[in-house]
Amino acid sequence: MARTQDALYSEIDLELSWSEQELPQRERTKHVHALHPYLGKFIPQLVEVLLGRYLRPGQRVLDPFAGSGTTLVQALESGLDATGSDVAAFNVLLMRVKLAEYNPFTLEREVRDALARLEPAEGEATPYLRRWYSPQALRELLGFRALVPEYEHADALRVVLARAARSARLTTHFDLDFPRAPQTGPYWCHKHRRECRPVERAEHFLRRYALDTLARIRAFARVRARGRTADVLHGDARELDYRRRFDGVVTSPPYPGLIDYHEQHRYAYELLGLDDLGELELGRGSSRRALDAYVDGVAAVLRNAREHLRPGAPVLIVVADRRDLYPEILDRAGLRLEERLRRHVNRRAGEFFEDVLVARA
Ligand SMILES: C[S@@+](CC[C@H](N)C(=O)[O-])C[C@H]1O[C@@H](n2cnc3c(N)ncnc32)[C@H](O)[C@@H]1O
Repeated sequence: MARTQDALYSEIDLELSWSEQELPQRERTKHVHALHPYLGKFIPQLVEVLLGRYLRPGQRVLDPFAGSGTTLVQALESGLDATGSDVAAFNVLLMRVKLAEYNPFTLEREVRDALARLEPAEGEATPYLRRWYSPQALRELLGFRALVPEYEHADALRVVLARAARSARLTTHFDLDFPRAPQTGPYWCHKHRRECRPVERAEHFLRRYALDTLARIRAFARVRARGRTADVLHGDARELDYRRRFDGVVTSPPYPGLIDYHEQHRYAYELLGLDDLGELELGRGSSRRALDAYVDGVAAVLRNAREHLRPGAPVLIVVADRRDLYPEILDRAGLRLEERLRRHVNRRAGEFFEDVLVARA
């Protein structure tokens, strides 16, 4: 066991490995990367190194499983164009808000105007919303929601609304990712080591996140390269027609049975009335049948991407492939595995290894 561990350490690509101390939270969540929580994203610094090693400024990179848009945001910062796709409507909304170019004065005027007009209101609410919010928090969220369509930058306000809705759910402080049942009374909080109460208001979150969003969008505007563009497609990456050629792929696919990418933002689907394409999401379940479907699905996504790549283009896949599914996936996608880079991920919560598979079209 010890020898295996040593062997793993000796293979590590140090330029791709950071400890939490070396790369503090502030750096990993800089500007728009932290516009809204998203479980299962990779860190922008990893994308930065990969783009620097395998692509050049001015080229266009594709991320077919674009998630919260880390590849695309970093591409714009590194001087590349980018295209992303995702099957989850909330992820697409979030990416578009991160990547849009804003007139900063209009955006600020609209955000401040919406906050000034904010009042609790009654409105249509699904059973989920009635169950997961205190009546007062729900009225505050619905009041904000009613104002949103009036603004040019409505989507930025929708992301603020979703973020406030996430924080205002009736949950414990230590179970925000996938809470199972609403917490309606006081509880012993493991995170704060005292008795805490579930949140009963949303307005303070709306105000705080609206201002934070403004600051983050402004900070990104200062570092994004001029003249570079990013676009985002909503749909199943097995079938999308990207309608252009790419110079490379940087992506991290979902992994079987780990994260349900629609469910983690359930509150946003309910509040914003977004389309749920959960049936098409890859990686749900880990039974034998689910694994077969996963291999078929990811191979189809990568094959579709390959058809839009110039010959020899790099395809960089970040994955902790504990089941060794990727040799077959790459083979079926018609991609040639060139190298496997090992990355050491050292977090306060624990350490693990993941690979960057370097394949070629
Ligand atoms: C590991 S996450 C990607 C995270 C991304 N690297 C980031 O930093 O935000 C995988 C993503 O694949 C998406 N996905 C799952 N099945 C898909 C499909 N059939 N077509 C397109 N995207 C899909 C999920 O919605 C999820 O956002």
